[in-house]
Amino acid sequence: HRLLVIHGPNLNLLGRREPQVYGHTTLADIDARLQTLAHTQGVALSTFQSNHEGALVDRIQQAADEGVGFIIINPAAYTHTSVAMVDALSGVAIPFVEVHLSNVHGRESFRQHSYFSAKARAVLAGFGARGYEFALQYAIEQLAAA
Ligand code: DQA
Repeated sequence: HRLLVIHGPNLNLLGRREPQVYGHTTLADIDARLQTLAHTQGVALSTFQSNHEGALVDRIQQAADEGVGFIIINPAAYTHTSVAMVDALSGVAIPFVEVHLSNVHGRESFRQHSYFSAKARAVLAGFGARGYEFALQYAIEQLAAA
């Protein structure tokens, strides 16, 4: 699989989790949409969600062995806390885009710092589920150009 989408903690609750903030689309809907988009463009895509920081680190490390060329990641709450996940991304040296459903810049101050943004190729926030689709399109273009 050449592309990997990683969803952090609590994103398995999408659809019923604070829908006024995160929308009504479920994670299964998002992943299915991304699979369709990738498939129509001939790109193999894997998706992964975990509520556990170590499992997310392990998945990032595994991506290097799989030859993943680009990662799309919504680190969720770990955005604001996880040096370990950013170290893993730097360690495997796979380019990534950071996605947030909500506009984190307009929310609580603790959401306004990301450990990931400085290392990301690009950051999307506030586009809801569509943000993943925009990120996927960019990732596919980057893979084609590489
Ligand atoms: C989020 C924003 C984070 O601050 C929050 O902890 C999440 C989701 C988003 O997609 O808007 O769980 O990453």
